[in-house]
Amino acid sequence: MMKKFFLTVGAGLTVILLGLQFFRPKIDHPLLTGDLDAPKEVKDVFVRACYDCHSNETNVRWYDKIQPVYWQVAADVREGRKGLNFSHWDKLAPADRKAKLWEAVNQIEAGAMPIKSYQIVHPDSKVSEKELSKLKAYLLGQLHSITNDTAKLHDRDKQLRTINSEKQNDLPVSLNGITYIPDYKNWQVISTSDRFDNGTMRVIYGNDVAVKAVKNGKNNPWPDGTIFAKAAWDKLDDGKGNISAGAFKQVEFMIKDSKKYKSTNGWGFARFKTPKLVPYGKTAMFTTECTNCHQPMKNNDFVFTFPIKN
Ligand code: HEC
Ligand code: HEC
Repeated sequence: MMKKFFLTVGAGLTVILLGLQFFRPKIDHPLLTGDLDAPKEVKDVFVRACYDCHSNETNVRWYDKIQPVYWQVAADVREGRKGLNFSHWDKLAPADRKAKLWEAVNQIEAGAMPIKSYQIVHPDSKVSEKELSKLKAYLLGQLHSITNDTAKLHDRDKQLRTINSEKQNDLPVSLNGITYIPDYKNWQVISTSDRFDNGTMRVIYGNDVAVKAVKNGKNNPWPDGTIFAKAAWDKLDDGKGNISAGAFKQVEFMIKDSKKYKSTNGWGFARFKTPKLVPYGKTAMFTTECTNCHQPMKNNDFVFTFPIKN
């Protein structure tokens, strides 16, 4: 009796799967307008690992065509092309190209791209450490030097004075109600990073709750009360290999409160720009920019930084 039941269900499923093969969302191949323009060794990596979803040159293998896999593939291609399409490279302004490249390299470094499910069926898509350094070197080469920029040095001095005279009672408030937190400068530095595309240096700080969570290995998800601050400065290069921090550019905060900030993945986002600490954004919706870009780190509680455990 049971056996017959399973046979029937099995047969039913087979019929459904076979039937599904005929229902296919369409993956089209629109005309190529202006493809990514980069040295061969750089481009080859992107073509191999990313072009299936981030260009109009999607190469669908036979095993991608089996349903229900095909549904997922078609959805990934649609979503992937929306955010980044190497075939429409010429439509981006030069600064946006650099920003997209930087984002691309960052997604690879964070292990978010190519997406895991795709890597499993396409093992050759994995980007090696060596290839990653080649991509980074290419980005670095695109950095314009800001050597001997006296205006920027001047800004730095002015900025130091401004920040030292911050008053606790009239602190700027972000459009979503988050008040600037001057104390971050006393928190522990958990990471530093260079963003190669626009010549800035950044330092990421974590408050006591963050540091404790790391020590206890309880940082995914991060506990309520965790706060990160990411501060960025211009990078000054004296041409002799000495790098120092120039003008203060901005500081960003991520405050964990899973209830209060439920609509933005449990994090309150805020950004204050220039030494004057001008709140960023035109409306409180500026946070969609933050959440969109942090989205690929979903499995890491939307945080990019992997703090070093000690
Ligand atoms: C199997 C399809 C697939 C492959 C292969 C793939 N991606 Fe993606 N990518 C996506 C999808 C889907 C999204 C949008 C949803 C998300 O962020 O998870 C995306 C988003 C991105 C974004 C964010 C774009 C934005 O601004 O919205 C970047 C950057 C990115 N991918 C870079 C890469 C790079 C670099 C590679 C190759 C090393 C790569 N991807 C390979 C599917 C893919
Ligand atoms: C273009 C993509 C992008 C956007 C937009 C973005 N971030 Fe980030 N953010 C990053 C990356 C990448 C890191 C990792 C550190 C680094 O490399 O600078 C990061 C790190 C951070 C950190 C340190 C904690 C962590 O996740 O590592 C904070 C705080 C932060 N961002 C706040 C914000 C706020 C606030 C906004 C919106 C106003 C925002 N971010 C928008 C990409 C982005």
